[in-house]
Amino acid sequence: MSEIKNITVIGGGTMGNGIAHVFAQNGFDVKLVETKQEFADRAMNTIDKNLSRMVSKEKISEAEKQATLERIQPVLSVSDGVKSADLVIEAVPENYDLKKKIFKEVDEHAPANAILASNTSSISITKLAAVTSRPGKFIGMHFFNPVPVMKLVEVINGLETDSAVTDSIMEISKKLGKEPVPANDFPGFVSNRVLMPMINEAIFCVHEGVAEPEHVDEVMKLGMAHPMGPLRLADFIGLDVCLDILNVLYDGFKDPKYRPCPLLVKMVDAGKLGDKTGEGFFKR
Ligand code: 3HC
Repeated sequence: MSEIKNITVIGGGTMGNGIAHVFAQNGFDVKLVETKQEFADRAMNTIDKNLSRMVSKEKISEAEKQATLERIQPVLSVSDGVKSADLVIEAVPENYDLKKKIFKEVDEHAPANAILASNTSSISITKLAAVTSRPGKFIGMHFFNPVPVMKLVEVINGLETDSAVTDSIMEISKKLGKEPVPANDFPGFVSNRVLMPMINEAIFCVHEGVAEPEHVDEVMKLGMAHPMGPLRLADFIGLDVCLDILNVLYDGFKDPKYRPCPLLVKMVDAGKLGDKTGEGFFKR
């Protein structure tokens, strides 16, 4: 496979700006595609803030911070953003129709040898690959929040992903200082198939009056050494995202063990989505 130098990240939200940050910090040129200037500015401000935090903790120098920022170029159109990409990573919201539309456009404008990757947390890589003309060059590259901190990249092979593409994505993940772990394409892959039932069960504990949210979290933090309790983590991930993933598991396996807790559904209906709205199981 040819060397990967130019990266395009589609979507500058929590995951997208983190992905752009780590690639740029490790010397790659990054185009960050957003739909509006204000969203692009917000993404760049977040990256600036996270780099400043690293400068204040003396993990990087001010000069490294500036060089990292200079390697990221915000772009407002998919076709411009991908035209010289070696690797395109999509990190837009968890909506199949939206991702499908974006990948059709990416496929049309990206060079024929470019690898296309999705940061989806649970949508089928095989199904996304099938909307492009290059399913062999399509792969899942699943990062974890906060991206600059978390070591894991879950590398998901679709049904037709070429093994050379998998090798190349494993290698580039290591260049980012991450630890890639391969998985095959089943609903939720490994990470969310294991994580989301735990979060859902923690919500059932609150729903059934087993314990208050802070007590559920204390049990898991103090007894199981989790850095965040499952309900705090659900707020951090976004309750809407948790619900979307549980629905993918439920629909994908047709198994009632993945049914979303009614309390989770109710909170999402009420617009209590966690940190992003200021309130979920806890207030921010
Ligand atoms: N950018 C850069 N650095 C960051 C950062 C960011 N966005 N957020 C935190 N940090 C750094 C801090 O500077 C600090 O660095 P230090 O160790 O050198 O001091 C370190 O991370 C720890 O941060 P804090 O001291 O502020 O806070 P905590 O010790 O409470 O750690 C946490 C915060 C790293 C988020 C920790 O609570 C944690 O690991 N939580 C679990 C996170 C998790 O499970 N993520 C996965 C979510 S699932 C997912 O993303 C997949 C999706 O599909 C759902």
